[in-house]
Amino acid sequence: MAENFAAVEIIAAKRDRNELTDDQIDWVVDAYTRGVVADEQMSALLMAILLNGMNSREISRWTNAMISSGERMEWSALDRPTVDKHSTGGVGDKITLPLAPLVAACGAAVPQLSGRGLGHTGGTLDKLESIPGWRASLSNEEMLSVLQSCGAVICAAGAGLAPADKKLYALRDVTATVEAIPLIASSIMSKKIAEGTSALILDVKTGSGAFMSDPARARELARTMVELGLSAGVKTRALVTAMDVPLGLTAGNALEVRESVEVLAGGGPADIVELTLILAREMLDAAGVKSGIDPADALKNGMAMDHWRRMIKAQGGDPDAKLPVAKESMQIFADSDGEMIAMDAMKVGVAAWRLGAGRSRQGEKVQAGAGIEIHAKPGEQVRKGQPLLTLHTDESDRFARATQILEGSIRISNTGEKAERLPLILDRIEG
Ligand code: URA
Repeated sequence: MAENFAAVEIIAAKRDRNELTDDQIDWVVDAYTRGVVADEQMSALLMAILLNGMNSREISRWTNAMISSGERMEWSALDRPTVDKHSTGGVGDKITLPLAPLVAACGAAVPQLSGRGLGHTGGTLDKLESIPGWRASLSNEEMLSVLQSCGAVICAAGAGLAPADKKLYALRDVTATVEAIPLIASSIMSKKIAEGTSALILDVKTGSGAFMSDPARARELARTMVELGLSAGVKTRALVTAMDVPLGLTAGNALEVRESVEVLAGGGPADIVELTLILAREMLDAAGVKSGIDPADALKNGMAMDHWRRMIKAQGGDPDAKLPVAKESMQIFADSDGEMIAMDAMKVGVAAWRLGAGRSRQGEKVQAGAGIEIHAKPGEQVRKGQPLLTLHTDESDRFARATQILEGSIRISNTGEKAERLPLILDRIEG
């Protein structure tokens, strides 16, 4: 790093709506990662970025600086093209679980570095950890070996991957600066580019249960990330997809694994199957895989299930083990006859989290069996007294806080009013 800057001058530049130079960006990201720039200075800079934005050159440079803070993985030893999927997160979004083995079954290699949940959206690793014996932490050598033998690996990102993002994300979390598009896009894409995948499909969620509830902002985030991926040589596309109601019929760790296994067995809820197939086809196309295996067939004929079982076993898990079940459950019933008009995804996600499926502080333990089963969705006719939701937890004193947030989360109408749902796919962005 040739030049030294004063952090305060960089903060003032962004505060005054000036563009940061490449050298300023390289320096400040590196100096913060090394502990030379203090948390309070980086907090001020992050807030200035949130308020005043960054142009595409600045975002791209910031992303590269985060990538350069750590290692870059590479998969040239593999005999198949690599492709990954990233979702910005939503309630009941367990798509990675059936998708990774499905795409592997169709001929691509899927190196998927995933995270844990924080707040109302679940984390893929928390879900898989409900399978007895399954291990999220793998060395780079183990990751390559699972990829080679199973075609897919889902594991935790090691400490060496984009360490700048780890520090910055923790700081954003406590300084109300998570929501800035340049910061979200650079955070996600620095990890995905450093992961070394050659193709990437982004599933950018929008609607009440997503953290970009406004579709226009979700589109902007999608476009920003596609640009970053393409300029780093990663074949990147994005779908903007609905998260106004929960995906599928479960939210919670072991409950979502059970539902994913149903999909891999050729069944499962229609929305999960449809989105899994759409994303699988996008991934195979972006990776240039022409195996002739249709993803729908691979779900029906057991090929995807075979890959799932191998992948779980290779990481110490027992795919035949009974999944954990919560100690306590209670049901919520329809209070009238009629059509279900709405189910607020955010409220269902927060309720699952309050039941113990998620964590409110990093490092907290989650309950494997906690969560919510959904028995009817918007657009369906329901009868008074019919169960709509079953809540599960190991600690019955959690029910009160979960039912409190669910108050008013489901609307039933008998006046002829129709459910208004976002289409599953709102947009597709391809460079
Ligand atoms: N996920 C990330 O990895 N980073 C963000 O900033 C937001 C979501």
